[in-house]
Amino acid sequence: MTDIKMLFSEQEIAARVTELADEIARAVPSDLDVIGVLKGSFVFLADLIRALDKAGRSSQVEFLRLSSYGNRQKATGDVVLIGGYPTIGDDRPVLLVDDIVDTGNSLAYAKNLLHANGTETILTCTLLDKPSRRETEINVDFIGFTIADLFVVGYGIDYAENYRSLPYLGKVEKEQD
Ligand code: IMP
Ligand code: MG
Repeated sequence: MTDIKMLFSEQEIAARVTELADEIARAVPSDLDVIGVLKGSFVFLADLIRALDKAGRSSQVEFLRLSSYGNRQKATGDVVLIGGYPTIGDDRPVLLVDDIVDTGNSLAYAKNLLHANGTETILTCTLLDKPSRRETEINVDFIGFTIADLFVVGYGIDYAENYRSLPYLGKVEKEQD
């Protein structure tokens, strides 16, 4: 059995998402292309774009899917694009959104990919940041919560594809038989 302890409640997440959207709206004076990194960002992104709308910034939404952890609690280090490349307009800044920046490999890969394909203005946003785990240097412009080296689930984030539907963020305490 997996033991999950609450880390951030639904209310805490909602309040922080509103603040983040306000921060983004202050920093970005125009509408945005929001690009979500699948799958983990989909719940966060759904709330963030609606909070951005309330903060006066409309967005168009695209996704890109990267290789992920698989069913383990460990990074592989090598990141690849799975599936199609997102459609990006050339007139709006891009906000690249992920669930967690851990080693930094995924977000750095995604940002470099967009740059290499000609996108000039790319801002990055993550719900959770684990700075102690960084392997690749990446500047994250907007961070929801900074956390220690914990394994987190819920609010779109999985452990072996489970727990994405939890409305709160929890930490996986330990594995039991
Ligand atoms: P990075 O490339 O090491 O920065 O990993 C980022 C991706 O790994 C995130 O987008 C998540 O999908 C996954 N990940 C990192 N930490 C966790 C965690 O604590 N729980 C679940 N997935 C995680
Ligand atoms: Mg991910």
